[in-house]
Amino acid sequence: MTYSEQTKETSPASYIEKQVIPAGTVIDPTPVDYSLKFVDPDYKTPTKVPKLYQPLKIRNVTIKNRIWVSPMCMYSAKDGFANDFHLVHLGQFALHGAGLVMMEATGVSPNGRITPGCTGIWKDEHIPQLQKITNFIHSQESVAAIQIAHAGRKASTNQPWTITSPDKNKADTDKGGWPEDIVAPSAISYDKNHWTPKELTIQQIQDIKNDFINAAKRADQAGFDVIEIHGAHGYLISEFLSPVSNFRTDQYGGKSLENRARLLVEIVQGIRKVIPQTKPLFVRLSCTEWVESTNEVPTGGNTIKDTIEISKILAQEGVDLIDCSSGGNHPNQKISPGPGYQVFLSDELRQANPQVLTGAVGIIVNGKQANQIVEEGKADAVFIGRQFLRDPTFALNAAEDLDLFVKWPSQYTFGRKKRTSKTVKL
Ligand SMILES: Cc1cc2nc3c(=O)[nH]c(=O)nc-3n(C[C@H](O)[C@H](O)[C@H](O)COP(=O)(O)O)c2cc1C
Repeated sequence: MTYSEQTKETSPASYIEKQVIPAGTVIDPTPVDYSLKFVDPDYKTPTKVPKLYQPLKIRNVTIKNRIWVSPMCMYSAKDGFANDFHLVHLGQFALHGAGLVMMEATGVSPNGRITPGCTGIWKDEHIPQLQKITNFIHSQESVAAIQIAHAGRKASTNQPWTITSPDKNKADTDKGGWPEDIVAPSAISYDKNHWTPKELTIQQIQDIKNDFINAAKRADQAGFDVIEIHGAHGYLISEFLSPVSNFRTDQYGGKSLENRARLLVEIVQGIRKVIPQTKPLFVRLSCTEWVESTNEVPTGGNTIKDTIEISKILAQEGVDLIDCSSGGNHPNQKISPGPGYQVFLSDELRQANPQVLTGAVGIIVNGKQANQIVEEGKADAVFIGRQFLRDPTFALNAAEDLDLFVKWPSQYTFGRKKRTSKTVKL
């Protein structure tokens, strides 16, 4: 579409310049790129593009590269409404070439938020601003994803930067919290710095299931290309899945993994009925809980073995990708974080269940490391969290780690550093 065609179609106030070539994709440098010394004259576009920059098609959605923004709460909404902070925050990653931008854990109900500042998607009024965000992400040829969530027994906490000591974690009503409306599979608190939840009745479980389904419908209406269900980190679905937090004796709990997974499976089935078949559905799971069996916690937590079983059921129900995270459901967890410390989970799951794609996440901080993970078949894509907060241009800079020339947003091209010889680092 030409500039004049584009400007004719949209009002000047909502006009967004289209990218001719999407940022973060590998292209042959043009003569202009050489003449402006953005590239070494000896540079040759590789015949085999590193996997990190190869597109990935899931159902009808093609994602231009495999560097994806992990969902990250910003605790900056009011009454669940996303605002222009979220537009700029998420928009910057799209502008700078991320293949997929995942919006933070967004509450399917008011009491399903982690903090009073978390975004929500429980009413139609939330849709227009979300639509504005997806429009911008699409204008940069990036894929818009949203994580829909219920915080369960970890709900109603304060914004992290206001918590000066662990005992300040809980948000009481004077801070906009809802201590009387915390729910979970069983009436057991995470620890003394979280509220004690009420055990959900069967009817309330059905209501939550419908909240997830309605949230997915709204996400579809708002233009999100991908929907991810948050089933990790000790929030509601993760609480149901785990033997260390689910002590129910009905069909949603107990020793049987099938029972504990029932809520998630029913949510997936319900969502698949209301979103287009062409739309990918992801689930984030705590693939291991890092909780060993002790006298205090006789069952221990779920392990990758349990997660593989869950992933097999989910794949049959139409889940396309498992976003492989870990932990967060029990204070006794023993984790030793380090570079790529969760990648083995994605790797093992992918080997054991080829029916689903996987995403790896956790301390992935440079292009070489990220590319190696996908090249070695340990994941289909990488989700990057904190590195994107430190460097919103990470999807472009990771290419430089690989000595690769990728497209920058047209508007920024003239700010590109010049590179006159291979020995001059960008
Ligand atoms: C500020 C912040 C907010 C986060 N919010 C979420 C969230 O909304 N949903 C989620 O599943 N994980 C959340 N996470 C976890 C990240 O998505 C990611 O899994 C984790 O930070 C590890 O990846 P990293 O080492 O690349 O940061 C959050 C992490 C950070 C730092």
